[in-house]
Formats: sequence, C-alpha cells, structure tokens
Amino acid sequence: MRSPAPLKGAEMGVVWLLWLASWSAVIGIVPGCPEQCNCKDNLLDCANKQLLEVPKGLPSTFKTFSLSANKITSIKFKDFVDHAQLTSLWLAHNQISDIERGTFAPLVQLRNLDLSNNKIITFPWGDFTNLTSLQMLKINNNEMVSLPKDAFANLKDLRSLRINNNRLATIQEGTFDPLVLLSHLHMYHNPFTCSCKLEWMRDWIAETQIAVPETDSITCEAPELLRGALVAKMPKLECKAPTVGLSSQPNIENTEIYAGFMLTWSVRLKGTPGQT
Ligand SMILES: *[C@@H]1O[C@H](CO)[C@@H](O)[C@H](O)[C@H]1NC(C)=O
Repeated sequence: MRSPAPLKGAEMGVVWLLWLASWSAVIGIVPGCPEQCNCKDNLLDCANKQLLEVPKGLPSTFKTFSLSANKITSIKFKDFVDHAQLTSLWLAHNQISDIERGTFAPLVQLRNLDLSNNKIITFPWGDFTNLTSLQMLKINNNEMVSLPKDAFANLKDLRSLRINNNRLATIQEGTFDPLVLLSHLHMYHNPFTCSCKLEWMRDWIAETQIAVPETDSITCEAPELLRGALVAKMPKLECKAPTVGLSSQPNIENTEIYAGFMLTWSVRLKGTPGQT
C-alpha cells in the first residue's frame, strides 16, 4: 500500500483557504471586511465609527454600503470607483461639504442614496446623468442654495425625493417634470422667494398627483410683504415678461458708420420691478 503523496504547495494553499473559509464561517468573519466595519450578507456596515473619510481598498462585492453617522467632511472622486455594484449608499449624518465631481458617476446600479444631514452647499448634479436606476434620493437637511433645472433630467425611476431643509430660494419651473414615477416630494423648510419665478409652484402643488407633505411648511421667506405666507396660497402676482426696447440715434439701419462716428444707444426696460 502506498502512503499518500505529501501535499504540494498549491494544494497546501487550497487546504489553508478551505480551513480559513470554514473557520471564518464559524466565527462570522467575511474575508476582506475591514476591521472597523461589520460585514454581513450584502451589507458593508461602517456606520457610527468616527470615520474621517471613506475607507479605501474595500471589497467590491457588497450591495449596500453604510457610512452613516461618521465624521466625513469630503468625498473624493476615487472613493466609489470600485463600487459600481452598489445599490444603496448611506452617507447621512456626516459633515460632508465637498464632493468631487464624478464621485457618484460610477454607481450606475444605485437605487438608494442618502446624503441627508450634511453640509452640502453645491452638488455635482452631472454625476446623476447615468444613474437611471435611482429610486430614492435624500439630500435634505443640507445647505444647498440652488438647484439646476436639469438636476433630475435622467432620473426616470425616482420615486422619492427629499430636498427639504435646505437654503433654496427658488426652484425653476419644469425641474420635476422628468420625474415621471415620482410619488413623494419633500421640499418644505426652504427660504423661498415668492416672486413671479415661483408662481408656477403654487399651481403645481394644487394640481400634482405627487404627494407633497407638509405644505404648511412650504413658505415664503421673501419678499418682506409675503414672509411666512404659504407658497400654495401665494397671491397671483402681476407678472409681465419684461420687454426691452432698443433704439439708436441716429438710426443705424439707414446710416453708414465710420470710425469716430458718435452713436447713442438707449435701452428701455418695461416690466414689474423686482418681480422677474
Ligand atoms: C454616461 O455614460 C456615457 C456613455 O457610456 C459616457 O460617455 C458619459 O461620460 C457618462 N457620463 C457620466 C457623467 O458619467
């Protein structure tokens, strides 16, 4: 009878891995899980760990990545390049103010993104161009001062949007039009300027099928006269598009112009001051 051949290097490696895998399964360690985080099934949970930045070199197998309640102040372009598989990313309750452009662009499978309760003033909206699977976006309780009209242009799957508790003075008409599946829109507690530019919102709130909670907290911050008034009950303003009259003396249409020629332009602006 032959005795078994001694194990070669490669075989030893396999045995070692098997041993490690079975042992990890017993004590619940997921290989590649960073020390400071908990990994379970599809969840990479690094919440509430006093982290100052997004940990690097993490396994790219998890679907959900939680970084909530840390002390992250900035998000770098490279932070999520290896995480294209993510469907949920939780970044709420940090101190994020800087987000490098392109950071979220690789996350094309993302369905849920929570950036609420941070210090975001400007957001790289272009990152959402290809994030067409996004269903829930929470960016409430930040310091955003403006929202580009095409911010949500490609988010055809978005159901829930929270932009409440920011510093938005206005939202342009048509901003929510691409959101054909939207069912909930939280936009209360913003310091809206109730000018002609916002009149559409009064009518939109009255007509939309989308649930717009807490309309009693969607109020005018300016002008002084309307402070505290509900946007939904904003009075009809006399909004006329300004007309610009341009004339010159002498009339250039009938005159040849030479160097040194004196031409006087006058511009007449008609409209309602402060209402446009
Ligand atoms: C979106 O996808 C297109 C096509 O793959 C690519 O050219 C473009 O750079 C992407 N945009 C962003 C913002 O990632």
